[in-house]
Amino acid sequence: MSESRTAFVTGASRGIGRAIALALAEAGARIVVASNEPERNEEVAAEIRARGREAFPLFVDMASAESVREAFRRAAQEFGRTDILVNNAGITRDTLAVRMKKEDWDLVLAVNLNGAFLAAQQVLPDMMRQRWGRIINIASVVGLMGNAGQANYVASKAGIIGLTKALAQEVASRNITVNAVAPGFIETDMTARLPEEVKQRMLGMIALKRFGRPEDVAAAVRFLASEEAGYITGQVLSVNGGMYM
Ligand code: NAI
Repeated sequence: MSESRTAFVTGASRGIGRAIALALAEAGARIVVASNEPERNEEVAAEIRARGREAFPLFVDMASAESVREAFRRAAQEFGRTDILVNNAGITRDTLAVRMKKEDWDLVLAVNLNGAFLAAQQVLPDMMRQRWGRIINIASVVGLMGNAGQANYVASKAGIIGLTKALAQEVASRNITVNAVAPGFIETDMTARLPEEVKQRMLGMIALKRFGRPEDVAAAVRFLASEEAGYITGQVLSVNGGMYM
């Protein structure tokens, strides 16, 4: 990163978000380590500081518009405007659609999709004034191919791809790029709880014959956040080991 940028990473307390926070810090950015897990935010912020970069651990509940607003207000007090927003916070509440409770539909959409929209609204005015910005939304392979038992999650991830393309068109004239990264099966807490038989079935679909690591996704985000990616917008970059082409 040529100048020192500020990156706001949601869901940065563990898994893919943590790896993104560390990778962007390594690239020279100051990092707002945001999630709903305050203690883990502190741990990740400490890891970043140990590498000689600035970090600000920050509580946010992406399901609450008020919490999102407050988090960006505090981040701005600490580091000024956000240059790079990574919408990574995400949850699952899996079950077949016929059995799915409305609360579980609403919660997954609220965190994964509404949260990303609300965060983008918070950062865009400054990015537009600045005529520079990067928004990177973490989608999923299932947002492209569908998946039984995840109607809420798949809808949220397909939605985030649509949001990415609409925003990309709205803000391109201000030199702001908006892209999505669609991970395949990545080894994190989210996938650790899947039954062994499901994992083996997934592995069978992956051309590279291994599960992904959080760092595989972080590398793609780091690239899209960089100066070099300035002519790429409205795209969905799959990081899935060839699971879906
Ligand atoms: P994870 O479960 O390890 O971490 C989720 C993160 O989101 C944590 O930091 C958690 O604190 C945060 N979070 C959850 N609810 C929140 C809320 N209401 N407000 C603020 N933060 C909240 O998940 P993982 O695997 O690291 O996933 C990160 C992103 O990547 C998610 O959007 C997920 O959908 C996506 N993804 C993951 C894949 C995988 O195989 N692990 C595959 C495709 C996409």
